[in-house]
Amino acid sequence: MMNSMKKKIAVLPGDGIGPEVTAQGLKALRAVAEVYGHEFDYTEALVGAVAIDATGDPFPAETEEACRTADAILFGAIGHPKYDDDPAARVRPEQGLLAMRKKLGLFANVRPVTSYEALLPISPLKEEIIRNADFVVFRELTGGIYFGQPRGRSEDGARAFDTCNYSKDEIIRVSRLAFNAAASRKKRITLVDKANVLATSRLWRETVQELAKDYPEIELDFMFVDNAAMKIIQNPRYFDVVLTENMFGDIITDEASVISGSLGMLPSASIGAERSLFEPIHGSYPQAAGRNIANPFGAVLSAAMLLEYSFGLVEESRVISNAVMQVVDSGFVTEDINPTSPKTTEEVGDKVAATIHELSSVKS
Ligand code: IPM
Ligand code: MN
Repeated sequence: MMNSMKKKIAVLPGDGIGPEVTAQGLKALRAVAEVYGHEFDYTEALVGAVAIDATGDPFPAETEEACRTADAILFGAIGHPKYDDDPAARVRPEQGLLAMRKKLGLFANVRPVTSYEALLPISPLKEEIIRNADFVVFRELTGGIYFGQPRGRSEDGARAFDTCNYSKDEIIRVSRLAFNAAASRKKRITLVDKANVLATSRLWRETVQELAKDYPEIELDFMFVDNAAMKIIQNPRYFDVVLTENMFGDIITDEASVISGSLGMLPSASIGAERSLFEPIHGSYPQAAGRNIANPFGAVLSAAMLLEYSFGLVEESRVISNAVMQVVDSGFVTEDINPTSPKTTEEVGDKVAATIHELSSVKS
């Protein structure tokens, strides 16, 4: 077949429902590889609580190596209740995620938010408000208060501090991606910040305003994060591309997931200069682990983003997202969406893979 590709993918299933949903993402990738004649080579590695159990380190050197030698990374989830319940735990699974982002230089987190016609009724928001909502959040991922120094406790332990800092360069590299995305969308960027209070936010505004001169066709507006939090659920159709710093992006994307109907629907891409990582935005959902009930669409759509962002396989990526759309529309879904007659995680994954085959045979 023409243009067939040979690529290496590091697979990091992680904790909780991570392995189950990642397996469904892999089914979609295998289906696409088969249909289009690509060759994807998968290397599995440990991250999170499972990595702590095995090696004492939530992001072990071997895993880092597997990531560095791969063309792209597919990641599941991280986190385990035994650490959440123990504030004194010295190593935490989440440190693995943050170390992975920092060490691999994954500076931009891209989180698309779309509404699905079939899921409108399960959102607590009114249908007429969320119908046709379609925006994408560009969240800075390796700076801000998540990583700023100094951080810690005072000597007597009675005071704690975190530091938020940003450099112009950190702001520019994620902002460029956002402007480029806006250029192929509705051409509007909203910078979400807290410039009425924070010095870092004022640097963001200044820097993004300056950068906007390179993109005269893009309309740029500014919104304080408290106001944006309200606007996202009041009038989500207002947004096209949302650009924001690390912690604001963390918060507003969980909020925005309500528009899709389920946190389990949302994929994300964490873009690095050399390679990128793809993961559903949901966490490890320990209560559901091993029960074959978790929603795999976020993981499957993350695999679709991987094909587009890392390999430039736009058509293959569309086939996966169209398959998801069709499977969702037909009501073939897990219990978070349909509690009365749910399908299992695996059944949904198989259905998506079968639909990928169907859609591609219709095409050719
Ligand atoms: C996310 C998660 C992480 C974050 C946690 C697990 C550290 O909530 O990817 O959004 O805050 O970035
Ligand atoms: Mn989060």
